[in-house]
Amino acid sequence: MNMFPEDFAWGASTAAYQIEGGWDADGKGESIWDAFCHRDDSSVFERHTGDVSCNSYHLWEEDLRCIEELGLTHYRLSLSWSRLLPDGTTGHVNQQGVRYYNQVLDGLLARGVTPMVTLYHFDLPQALQDRGGWQSADTPALFDAYARFCFGAFGDRVRLWITLNEPYVCAKLGHEDGLHAPGVRGAAYRAGHHMLRAHALAWHSYDAGYRRAQGGLVSMAINSDWAEPEDADSAEDAAAAARYLAFSLGWFAWPLFVSGDYPEVMRAAVDARLPRFSGVQPAVLGTADFFALNYYTARKVRSVGVDGGAPSMKKDLGAEGVVDPAWPLCGLPWLAVAPHGLRQLLKYIKATFNHPAVYITENGFAQTGPVLMEDGERAAFYRETVGEVAKAIEEDGVDVRGYFAWSLLDNFEWTDGYGARFGLFHVDFSDDERARTMYRSGREYAAIISKHRSRSRAHRELTSS
Ligand code: GAL
Repeated sequence: MNMFPEDFAWGASTAAYQIEGGWDADGKGESIWDAFCHRDDSSVFERHTGDVSCNSYHLWEEDLRCIEELGLTHYRLSLSWSRLLPDGTTGHVNQQGVRYYNQVLDGLLARGVTPMVTLYHFDLPQALQDRGGWQSADTPALFDAYARFCFGAFGDRVRLWITLNEPYVCAKLGHEDGLHAPGVRGAAYRAGHHMLRAHALAWHSYDAGYRRAQGGLVSMAINSDWAEPEDADSAEDAAAAARYLAFSLGWFAWPLFVSGDYPEVMRAAVDARLPRFSGVQPAVLGTADFFALNYYTARKVRSVGVDGGAPSMKKDLGAEGVVDPAWPLCGLPWLAVAPHGLRQLLKYIKATFNHPAVYITENGFAQTGPVLMEDGERAAFYRETVGEVAKAIEEDGVDVRGYFAWSLLDNFEWTDGYGARFGLFHVDFSDDERARTMYRSGREYAAIISKHRSRSRAHRELTSS
């Protein structure tokens, strides 16, 4: 029988730009995603924007209702930096923004829901982009000032903090491929380096100035596919799969958990283009109080050589990941359904990063095309995935502390706009009220939570009597 710890966090996640709307309401400053979506040549699906989205800026009480209906114990949300600090600096605080997040946090606590708060989920203030953004060595200190502001304003009610969400995606899609805001190319390693420095500064600020009074934990949400060799008997493919993991999970986890530096394989392949940590203070090593993992999918990996041409991450990696035709697709070409990969990745994390406490801070499955309220496949996906997490805990001894589904609501899915729906609740984007309706997968997730919570309660009562 699967048994989750009684204090296991059952959550769902969202991000400010993806749900809030109110993009210029009540003194909010512009973010890089506002600017990116408003460009005449916007590459976002059908030129969708997050201008209104789920309108959670005005309809946050509806979100609380959804959270309660699911029976979540935890909710992961992100703060919009430019809603709080319109020009990115603490020189000017937007009190309406502070009020907004106070209401949401107080509403969660009043319902017995524990918030996990992400400080940065892809939406840099445009004013800081104008000063170089993540390519500038000044941005980490500005992030640190923003983080300290948030610890001070909200830390009396927040115990679980994520500094940055998915620096890999932000660096790779935003600063290498130019597909995400700010649409920069060829600067991933530099941007990623500054994100790591920003994270480390904020962690040290919390540790020195807030931890004692607030007693919280701080980490960074690291995303990765699971990677397995395409040909299980090929040593080349095995090495390629290891490189694939080093260039995704390892890029950000190695500095935090292993060595204070990038993985050796990256150093060897990228050489001079990979910035150095030497002499950089404060240290990056040891700046994660738990492992925050965003997992979506897996790849079969083979070794490939790329000859000639300009330096690129693909060339550095020398590997290529493909989807196993046996894994169902869900409408987005990158998102093959592979719940087994989560268990494998959890085992890998336990072995590689010294058995950390792990929160799965995102995991989910999308639908595209005509809306399917009776989304049985997604309901099965949640059942199967939670089963894999249970095996990781019970059979592999991984210290998993929580699972957060992506996402509470259908929302603005970056370059896919509203064309991909990840919600446990359907949102009607053609309706001014943005009505939220639970999908069958939401009912399934609610049932999973309720079953496991009553099981672990019963188990405790039995063992303590
Ligand atoms: C993650 C991201 C989320 C969400 C999800 C689904 O990379 O953190 O914001 O969009 O992917 O694609």
